[in-house]
Amino acid sequence: MLDYQAKKDLLTNKIILVTGAGDGIGRTAAITYAAHGATVILLGRTQRKLEAVYDQIVAQGYPQPAIMPLDLASATVGDYQHMAALIDAQFGRLDGLLHNASLLGTLTLLEQLPLQELELLLKVNVVAELAMTQALLPLLRQASTASILFTSSGVGRKGRAYWGAYAISKFATEGMMQVLADEIDGSSVRANSINPGGTRTTMRASAYPAEDPLTLKTPQEIMPLYLYLMGDDSLHENGQAFSAQLKPTISK
Ligand SMILES: NC(=O)c1ccc[n+]([C@@H]2O[C@H](COP(=O)([O-])OP(=O)(O)OC[C@H]3O[C@@H](n4cnc5c(N)ncnc54)[C@H](OP(=O)(O)O)[C@@H]3O)[C@@H](O)[C@H]2O)c1
Repeated sequence: MLDYQAKKDLLTNKIILVTGAGDGIGRTAAITYAAHGATVILLGRTQRKLEAVYDQIVAQGYPQPAIMPLDLASATVGDYQHMAALIDAQFGRLDGLLHNASLLGTLTLLEQLPLQELELLLKVNVVAELAMTQALLPLLRQASTASILFTSSGVGRKGRAYWGAYAISKFATEGMMQVLADEIDGSSVRANSINPGGTRTTMRASAYPAEDPLTLKTPQEIMPLYLYLMGDDSLHENGQAFSAQLKPTISK
């Protein structure tokens, strides 16, 4: 699916929420989904970044997006219920949900990992995803078919020294995806995970400051899998762990 070629109208009339849509992979995914016809709901914690993505989508003539500022570190169940009510009132359903926003945290020995950092990363990278999924499942069931994508990492599939809270949170994300996929198997909603592989973003640069970013794939280059899993060509996929690159870049 890495060379998947999406039809221009693959996502026409679909309503898709992207978290962390203001920067990096989420920003590119939101613009790419809009370019394929989707109305995207841009969720993130930095309003000016969301507005810049909004402006770019409108300037390209793609369907008018919606902006939903929310900090997942402090969001409450009430915030997610409010979000679901807003989406219900405006669209009446949700066809896609890309859980993409994440924090990296500090790369350190588990022995020295501050517990507050683990709590913060679990809140943003795991608890927020579950709370949002719980609130949005009724709307996802209102769509004729719906796709939930979780964003994993190489260190969410094989543990690696120093990746601490981030790796733990990505293992939890994979586990949540598998449990959810089993629970919704046979329904109109499906859930899968993507490991983007090393990709040219701010997060990657903070994990590998000495790396030449030009050696990495751009977010644009990994979009075929993001399109495949969001569109109806992947209706039969559920509970699968995908990789967006043939050889995910791993540096020690
Ligand atoms: N890049 C890679 O090489 C790579 C490799 C494997 C997995 N991944 C995964 O791919 C996903 C995207 O990564 P990326 O590299 O694009 O990261 P990024 O450039 O750091 O972008 C992350 C996005 O998440 C948002 N975000 C972070 N904390 C948030 C919070 N508390 N509330 C709301 N939004 C929040 C950020 O908002 P702000 O812009 O406001 O900070 C940003 O828009 C992540 O799940 C990451 O773990 C990336």
